[in-house]
Amino acid sequence: MAHEYFTHKGVLFPSLFYSPAALSYVENEFQVRDDDIFNVTYPKSGTNWMLEILSLIRCDGDPGWVRSVLNWERAPWVGSQKGLEAALKYPPPRLLCSHLPVQLFPRSLQGSKAKIIYTLRCPKDILVSLYHFTKLFPHIKTLGSLDSFLEDFLSGNVGYGSWFDHVTGWMGLKGNENFFSITYEELQEDPRGSVRRICHFLGKELSEEQVAAVVENASFQSMRANKMSNFSQVVDEKMDHHKGQLLRKGICGDWRNHFSEAQSQRFDAVYRERMQGLGMTFPWD
Ligand code: A3P
Repeated sequence: MAHEYFTHKGVLFPSLFYSPAALSYVENEFQVRDDDIFNVTYPKSGTNWMLEILSLIRCDGDPGWVRSVLNWERAPWVGSQKGLEAALKYPPPRLLCSHLPVQLFPRSLQGSKAKIIYTLRCPKDILVSLYHFTKLFPHIKTLGSLDSFLEDFLSGNVGYGSWFDHVTGWMGLKGNENFFSITYEELQEDPRGSVRRICHFLGKELSEEQVAAVVENASFQSMRANKMSNFSQVVDEKMDHHKGQLLRKGICGDWRNHFSEAQSQRFDAVYRERMQGLGMTFPWD
């Protein structure tokens, strides 16, 4: 893994997109604005879906923006080298994405009124989604079996570190008025209700027709067909489009099609140990 990832403050980052210097700048010098909206996730939790929803809410459900501007330009990645440059040039109010664990997030978040939307997903589904997605990146040559990947995931030996640390870290902000959390499963279960809740958090009023337009234009089918949102514009050297796509299945519980009983039990044992005492229950518990 050495040449594909580097370790920054105990967390692995993909060398293709990140550098220690950019990460240090983001943590220590990047200035969060009060009108920033951050879409924060652990990878494969529904980041791009939430980004589509937030982009559409910004445009009152009108799909013009999501169909004409690439998703990573609509919301630059704070933390990555290129995303940082784009974020610094972005005219406010900014829409920004980040996979950073809370301890590496810009310190200037403290005391600001910036809004954080944190999307979570069943970690077994994340693992399966991540395993498939990682295979699309030709520069990553050492992806082993699902069994070994499972051990890497459970120990945090994957990009952006441990899911458990990410979730427990960010969920520590629960109760803060500028922090909103939602799950991929809730988005699936009740897309309109979820969009209404997000609007409420953002202080944005949309009509029922506009909410319906957000849901429709951010649906799996709409996003898969939208070249501004489906990653088909990522250059071939970085992503092998013959091997699969970002919008793979878009369902809950796909882990059941991939995990053996032993793998599931192994995962559950670590999950129980790491999550006990957090005092939170999730749709997948
Ligand atoms: P699967 O690999 O399980 O299909 P991220 O955006 O954080 O990288 O997450 C990608 C996952 O979200 C993929 O999961 C993808 O299919 C799913 N996804 C993206 N857009 C979606 C949508 N509109 N509806 C449902 N799932 C979506």
